Amino acid sequence: MTSNRRPESMERITTPELANAFIEEQLSALRAQIGSKRALLALSGGVDSSVVAALLIKAIGQQLTCVHVNHGLLRKGEPEQVVEVFRNQMKANLVYVDAIDRFLDKLANVAEPEQKRKIIGAEFIRVFEEEARKLEGVEFLAQGTIYPDILESGPVKAHHNVGGLPEDLNFELVEPIKFLFKDEVRVVGKALGLPDNMVYRQPFPGPGLGVRCLGAITRDRLEAVRESDAILREEFAQNGLEGKVWQYFTVVPDFKSTGVRDGARSYDWPVIIRAVNTRDAMTATVEDVPFTLLQRITQRITAEVKGVNRVLYDLTPKPTGTIEWE
Ligand code: XMP
Repeated sequence: MTSNRRPESMERITTPELANAFIEEQLSALRAQIGSKRALLALSGGVDSSVVAALLIKAIGQQLTCVHVNHGLLRKGEPEQVVEVFRNQMKANLVYVDAIDRFLDKLANVAEPEQKRKIIGAEFIRVFEEEARKLEGVEFLAQGTIYPDILESGPVKAHHNVGGLPEDLNFELVEPIKFLFKDEVRVVGKALGLPDNMVYRQPFPGPGLGVRCLGAITRDRLEAVRESDAILREEFAQNGLEGKVWQYFTVVPDFKSTGVRDGARSYDWPVIIRAVNTRDAMTATVEDVPFTLLQRITQRITAEVKGVNRVLYDLTPKPTGTIEWE
């Protein structure tokens, strides 16, 4: 039974040097634990699983199999980046699973937010388990558990319902970053050579864009969420807000409003922009985004995103609003 308490002697990892020392220590520990056996990792492309993947690739190379499940609810460019970074650059053994239709079929006509979360979580485990069963001789399951997950602080952990462990598969757990706080994970990720947009990524919910395409998910509205989110991120990056604002994203509700385009009446969806700052996600304040930037983003979204004729900025702090809309 290994301890789940961070050793008191453990120094906080704040510099590249400390990160390198941590990495060296973990590589030895991982090689000692896994030996010549095989390990499996669900690689979402988020900071935590990416750092664990990079560590394990260094430690055991081809003995690791990463499984990336594309449930269709990821942000624009994310699945492609996982393949590029881990398969093409790091030469990892990566299984890419296109499960988009499977998820969207299961989610069709399901409007209730918690039901949507349950379906996404359960389907994720099912897909991952199917892939795990196809592989032979895997004895270890690597996970990107971090210290706040163990401490179960705040509401975020309670939401972590995607990526659970297939219970009847008898794996030994490998959790190399379980004593690290998020900022330390980022320092380690940087030292491992992961790209900045992976390392400094804003928090992204497990159910992904699924809880930002409000009500019953449809493919066209889901694309409107993905495309408008990509424009928002691009504009925030170009205007110095990336890494400064804690979380920002777009939401597409399931109602339409009247508009006018090219002299004709339109009847299309609105896009809602949310940009908030918080320490622990329990409360949040709204970012004071420059009005000219909001106008520019509005102009781009209404011009570039199909089916959208209005853009709104959500001015609600938490409370009374939650950060996500569902
Ligand atoms: P709320 O909306 O409750 O969000 O104010 C607080 C933080 O939790 C994230 N969040 C989730 N994370 N699965 C997750 O992994 C979820 O189902 C989920 N719902 C919300 C949210 O993005 C914010 O950072």
